[in-house]
Amino acid sequence: MAASEYSTGLESVEAESQYLHVLSAFLAMEPVDSVISLARGCTGGSITDNVQRFLWEICVKSAVNGNASYAKKLLKRLINEVELENGEVLDEVYEEYALHMSAPSKENILVKDNIRITKFISFLFPDGSYEHPSCPKSGKLVIPMRCSLNMFEGDTGCSIWPSSLFLSEFVLSYPDLFANKSCFEVGSGAGLVGICLAHVKAKKVILTDGDLLTLTNMKLNLERNRLNYDDELLKEPGEAQSTRVKCIHLPWETASESKLSKYRPDIILGADVIYDLSCLPHLLRVLVALLRRPAKRESGSLETEDRDTAQDGRSSPVVAYIASVIRNADTFNAFLVLVDQMDLSITDLTGELKPPLELLPYMHSYDRSSIRLFSISPR
Ligand SMILES: C[S@@+](CC[C@H](N)C(=O)[O-])C[C@H]1O[C@@H](n2cnc3c(N)ncnc32)[C@H](O)[C@@H]1O
Repeated sequence: MAASEYSTGLESVEAESQYLHVLSAFLAMEPVDSVISLARGCTGGSITDNVQRFLWEICVKSAVNGNASYAKKLLKRLINEVELENGEVLDEVYEEYALHMSAPSKENILVKDNIRITKFISFLFPDGSYEHPSCPKSGKLVIPMRCSLNMFEGDTGCSIWPSSLFLSEFVLSYPDLFANKSCFEVGSGAGLVGICLAHVKAKKVILTDGDLLTLTNMKLNLERNRLNYDDELLKEPGEAQSTRVKCIHLPWETASESKLSKYRPDIILGADVIYDLSCLPHLLRVLVALLRRPAKRESGSLETEDRDTAQDGRSSPVVAYIASVIRNADTFNAFLVLVDQMDLSITDLTGELKPPLELLPYMHSYDRSSIRLFSISPR
């Protein structure tokens, strides 16, 4: 049963979208406090029987993410909060919790082994955006993402970082910028941005990462989202492309400029890739090679074959969109110095081009205001 059906005839008409937020937060495995606080919002503050039933029946029992320890944590918190308010916990809720208590928790045993979980990231389009080109008929785009439970050392690429949520919102909010364009992402991690690029019908989506485990996880995510990927390294220009999505192992340190120059993307993207000082010169070298304009042939025609070509024969400018949380000012300043040394120009688009659509309204762990969006282009 859908959240909308469940809320029919319940506390208020707005409850329908509130219940959808609760379910979306549960599926994205938001902190349980946050899920319960959203659930309270359905009724104006109290945990009614309906709210308990919704959390039990719709979230826990029919959960597609099936993470038992997360469900157990939610039930425990629900019971605590109802009891604290001297309310009555539904029998079904107690029984479900007892079942979870007696079942061995695989996640707890394996927590040291970087286990993977599936979060469902629901992009909820606001009412009235049904005409928006990236808005599905249902008004929501739900993307299953296999990712790591904890951000262990060496497992960074298997987490979903806030900048990739931001960049995904950006792509979905401005589909025309990306539709029919060849897009190349550096440090793609779990692959969320690439899945959104495919949704808005980018002509080609090239996802890259320097970490092989991350690449394997990314491919599983593409499969789970029914996207075919082609992991051959590079076809020669002019060769037919069989698939639109590619996954490429691309450590910035060893990426050769001649190979990079063959990809010729229209747009380069990167989310949360400015954090390791020692990697920055290599990252910048990769960006320069991808941003470089193709040399003119003697006849005056451009050598590019893939870049979007305007009607007057000129290709549209190549641009990189980089979303970042600035955690360390020194690292970010070092990035700016390198950008300048490499003759690139950088513009802070954060105020100007903020995603107009807030597609993750239920995700309280995601602090959009902490993220900045930059465009980088050749000077
Ligand atoms: C903080 S994670 C961000 C992942 C993803 N873009 C996101 O926002 O969810 C940084 C990503 O960059 C990749 N990365 C870091 N250093 C790299 C390097 N030197 N070469 C290639 N990829 C690298 C990591 O493997 C990881 O996937």
